[in-house]
Amino acid sequence: MRALILAGGKGTRLRPLTVYTPKPIVPLANRPFLLYQLAVLRNAGITDITLSLSYQPDKIEQVLGDGSELGVNLSYVTEPSPLGTGGAYSFAALSDAPSIVLNGDILTDIDLAKVVRFHEAKKADATLVLAPVEDPTAYGLVETGAAGEIRTFIEKPTSADLAKLHIDTINAGIYVLEPKILDLIPKGENRSFEYDVFPMILEKAMPFFAYTLENEYWRDIGTCASYLAAHHDFLAGKIKGFEDEIPHATEIATAAFIDRRSVIGPDCIVKPGAKIINSVVGAGVTLEEKAVVENSVIWPHSRISTGAEVHDSIIGRGCHIGRSAVVDRGSVLGDKTSISDYSRV
Ligand code: GDD
Ligand code: MG
Repeated sequence: MRALILAGGKGTRLRPLTVYTPKPIVPLANRPFLLYQLAVLRNAGITDITLSLSYQPDKIEQVLGDGSELGVNLSYVTEPSPLGTGGAYSFAALSDAPSIVLNGDILTDIDLAKVVRFHEAKKADATLVLAPVEDPTAYGLVETGAAGEIRTFIEKPTSADLAKLHIDTINAGIYVLEPKILDLIPKGENRSFEYDVFPMILEKAMPFFAYTLENEYWRDIGTCASYLAAHHDFLAGKIKGFEDEIPHATEIATAAFIDRRSVIGPDCIVKPGAKIINSVVGAGVTLEEKAVVENSVIWPHSRISTGAEVHDSIIGRGCHIGRSAVVDRGSVLGDKTSISDYSRV
């Protein structure tokens, strides 16, 4: 079975982080995000993987290459202009065999081999993975029947929809699709899985099933708050299969404090009295004396000056946080931001 990763979106909800770094390769615990999806696919024995791109495709290809270092075989398809999720699938025209399709911004430790077995056992034309969430309004709401058959699909449901249906299961952005789904999408046209293709599958009463996650980890990292929360989950060891791969600190002053959870990239300088707590710090970052980084993510080559503090925030690449400045409560600084001494953000 082949896989297609839909990674052509502009990542607008992750701005300013995605201005210079497209969403598929924003770092998660210092690794390009898509490496986590590639590992999940590889663990299920799926190594032929196509990336469907549209926004900043060259940067993504430069970082991920042909996949050989990751034990997979990567190919790339770039749309001339975004064709929507369904249009991108049709444009990639994988083969005449069933394929797995993934939204490129979900972090999960799902066992995909189980999903494929479920799809085959149900003799489905399309299988969607579902995840329960607290607030389904940002997702595709999916109602199922007793045998797991999909009855309703409502993208970005309103509170009226939710009041009517009383369910919390949403489309997790992981599909197994038979090639006949391609017949529902006119070649070269813009189509959305969520607004066009899934409703059409229901209308035609094709075999359409849902596999619901129970204990597996799942999160869409497409907003800054969720991206930060994904790091906290990672540091808390909630994502199975990646615990051993945490790269640990290099050069740190003996009088500095770094808790056991935090992840520090190579070539960092951490001066005496500096503290790093429950955070991810990228390569080449400098923390001057008594600087504090707590519950935060710092991208490479940023500098946190003497006595400055960063709490619960994301600092982009190459930023400068001046002396005794405080960056707090969910702030997100784009690359190369400079915060002057003593500022409070
Ligand atoms: N190639 C390509 N072309 N990819 C695209 C395009 C396109 O035109 N449009 C979106 N994508 C990619 C995005 O890069 C992303 O990886 C994925 O498709 C989903 O797009 P999002 O913009 O992140 O959608 P969403 O998060 O609002 O909603 C989707 O994901 C939810 C789960 O996280 C929907 O599939 C929902 O139904 C679902 O619940
Ligand atoms: Mg998304």
